Amino acid sequence: MEHLIHPRIKNIEISGIRKFFNMVADRPNLISLTIGQPDFPTPEHVKEAGKQAISDNFTVYTHNAGLLEVRQAACRFVNEKYGLHYNENEVIVTIGASQAIDIAFRTILEEGVEVILPGPVYPGYEPIIRMCGAKPVYVDTRHNQFRLSADLIKPYINERTRCIVLPYPSNPTGVTLAQQDLLELAELLKDRPIWILSDEIYSELVYSGKHASIAKWLRNQTIVINGLSKSHSMTGWRVGFVFAPEFLTKHLIKVHQYSVSCASSISQKAALAALTAGKEDANDMRKLYEQRMEYAYSRLVDMGFQVEKPTGAFYLFPSIEPFHTSSFEFALDLVDKAGVAVVPGSAFSAYGEGYVRLSYAYSLETLAEGLNRIEQYVQKHKR
Ligand SMILES: Cc1ncc(COP(=O)(O)O)c(C=O)c1O
Repeated sequence: MEHLIHPRIKNIEISGIRKFFNMVADRPNLISLTIGQPDFPTPEHVKEAGKQAISDNFTVYTHNAGLLEVRQAACRFVNEKYGLHYNENEVIVTIGASQAIDIAFRTILEEGVEVILPGPVYPGYEPIIRMCGAKPVYVDTRHNQFRLSADLIKPYINERTRCIVLPYPSNPTGVTLAQQDLLELAELLKDRPIWILSDEIYSELVYSGKHASIAKWLRNQTIVINGLSKSHSMTGWRVGFVFAPEFLTKHLIKVHQYSVSCASSISQKAALAALTAGKEDANDMRKLYEQRMEYAYSRLVDMGFQVEKPTGAFYLFPSIEPFHTSSFEFALDLVDKAGVAVVPGSAFSAYGEGYVRLSYAYSLETLAEGLNRIEQYVQKHKR
């Protein structure tokens, strides 16, 4: 029966991050710097709101788009923080940012259209683009500090271009776009028949300046993806949001409804606490991430790695060029000889080859031990 499975699905591979993690997870005494999730617990008051929902038997379907008060709170949150203007009919509560990305692509993509992405990039977009029969078109950002810019994308825009993915702050590189970059992109894309999928899941984790969204200037063309996984350390609660103009949201909601009905009622009650009383919950975590970033960044620089200084998210993306090996081989060898796991850059598209991703969503002690081991490895193996 296997031949009856859709070839597009057969051709999709399991994410390189997972693949690598599964390969090395059971090695004894391994320091893993691989994971893209906060190491802090979900804030206590948010957990309490979830527990209360269960005690109150609030274990039911909600409005397909999510509870009205959660949608209103999400709109207030992005208004106060990023100056965006959406109403309750322009937001859907989704099952993590992942599902928001899925319904957005399935609503706007069709066979043969093209989606422009920066390379290297988070691996969650390409498989969905391909499932829709569309074509991912990567723009090499390696010589522009991993930043997409108007100049870089201009040559790739044609009549088939349907969408541009703007995933900043970036996983895996930790870079953000400056307001000037966004303004130039907005100017280039304004009034063209092209959507912008702006994945802002790390918007609360910006270390220098404030997060800005292109939706401020291109509201009618932009689909904003966000959620609570990273800002409130809620990866397992599965709460995301998609913000889009009403004429698009009324179509997004159909895809959402027929795929999941609604997000979990319990998680939505927890989300309400996070978005209201917990509006500033990310601040303390951000300070700690920044300390860790400064520490890990300077350690890597002292070891001689070439690495962009992150301005957001919780990843570092050093070049491993001096080791003259593939990122996969490097990462495997690092596990074998140093007992440290990092993610091969090739997991983030072909443009991630030659780099590895380190997450600093770990305690300073874990980071210090991991970096000590990397330092010993580097002293022995750098050519
Ligand atoms: C850039 C980016 N977008 C989306 C997601 C998915 O987020 P969620 O766990 O809310 O589905 C991740 C998770 O790592 C991510 O890094």
